Amino acid sequence: MYSEKVMDHFTNPRNVGEIENASGVGTVGNAKCGDIMRIYLDISDEGIIRDVKFKTFGCGAAVATSSMATELVKGKNIQQALEVTNKAVMEALDGLPPVKVHCSLLAEEAIHAALWDYSKKHGIKIEGLEEPPEDIGEILEEEEY
Ligand code: FES
Repeated sequence: MYSEKVMDHFTNPRNVGEIENASGVGTVGNAKCGDIMRIYLDISDEGIIRDVKFKTFGCGAAVATSSMATELVKGKNIQQALEVTNKAVMEALDGLPPVKVHCSLLAEEAIHAALWDYSKKHGIKIEGLEEPPEDIGEILEEEEY
């Protein structure tokens, strides 16, 4: 039911942990399943994501999508990181079963939340970024995942 890539990122997740004095930290949850994801970003003065770590208290698909999402944003600039959607993460993982698609949204929104935190701390505006919700439930209802 899961692709080999999902199983690989679930059993051997990349970039697990925390970053001390991170440039931005974002936490989002899904009240329906109780899962929570936190992303830490280390961003250089030039706006490059030098390092990224995550902690996920959630299902296997949430762990695998966080792991892949961190791999996709590492080394990128802020605008490129914004383009890492849940669909991009799923594609990179060779897909997810339909009932697990919503789990991938946690990764996208946790990255947005960390970028939002970074923009607030540094007093800058990131084009195209809106304040992410703490709970992805609203988005799930609107878009019917
Ligand atoms: Fe909650 Fe997967 S079931 S994130």
